[in-house]
Amino acid sequence: MKDLKHEKTLAAKEAVKYLSDGQIVGLGSGSSAYIAIAEIGELVKNGLNIKGVPTSEKTRELAESLNIPLLKIEDVDSIDITIDGADEFTEDLQLIKGGGSFLLKEKVVASLSKAEIIITDSTKKVGLLGKFTVPIEVVPYAQNYVLAQIQKLNGIGRIRLVEGKPLVTEQGNMLIDGDFGLIEDPRELARQLIRIVGVVEHGLFIDIATTVIMGVDDGFEIYN
Ligand code: 5RP
Repeated sequence: MKDLKHEKTLAAKEAVKYLSDGQIVGLGSGSSAYIAIAEIGELVKNGLNIKGVPTSEKTRELAESLNIPLLKIEDVDSIDITIDGADEFTEDLQLIKGGGSFLLKEKVVASLSKAEIIITDSTKKVGLLGKFTVPIEVVPYAQNYVLAQIQKLNGIGRIRLVEGKPLVTEQGNMLIDGDFGLIEDPRELARQLIRIVGVVEHGLFIDIATTVIMGVDDGFEIYN
């Protein structure tokens, strides 16, 4: 059986080799990103001089506990390199993200980044995106409208629940998980989703990742 944590660790250890003194570093969210942040914490302890930009409150708390100096997203106009995870990726570096509900900050941080390094275990690589549903962040009062528009795109939207109640994102919005089957044209779906009034952002990351490092058994594969 695959040891997914080990694979994520291999990918994270490789990703942090891309860091160097003086950089501003985007800190992703999710179990893979947290492993990378722990590695970054060790490097900082040993003298690496970087400043991190967290993509969620959980990441901020973790980075703070490791004494990684931090900047807020609103205080940077460029990020050198971001290390984050993904729920699915294709060989041409298109992604679905947002399984952990932090897609909005993750996408803003990724968009500010000169390099977006995605680290994953070996289960995340797919031929076509879409087995994992597309998280869509939605202004709460627009939920019924957005659900209807998703249906018009031949999708099925489900409001993401936590303990029976709609999940509330860090921005006070809700998440709809959109099932569109296997997505032949993610670029076009991304365009259609962002055009829906009430959609704040979605988890299709198109032409954003610059490198994917996927842990595999006792090594890793790099896509870029
Ligand atoms: C959070 C994310 C995560 O990066 C994604 O869900 C992957 O998580 P993990 O590394 O735990 O598999 O997009 O919003």
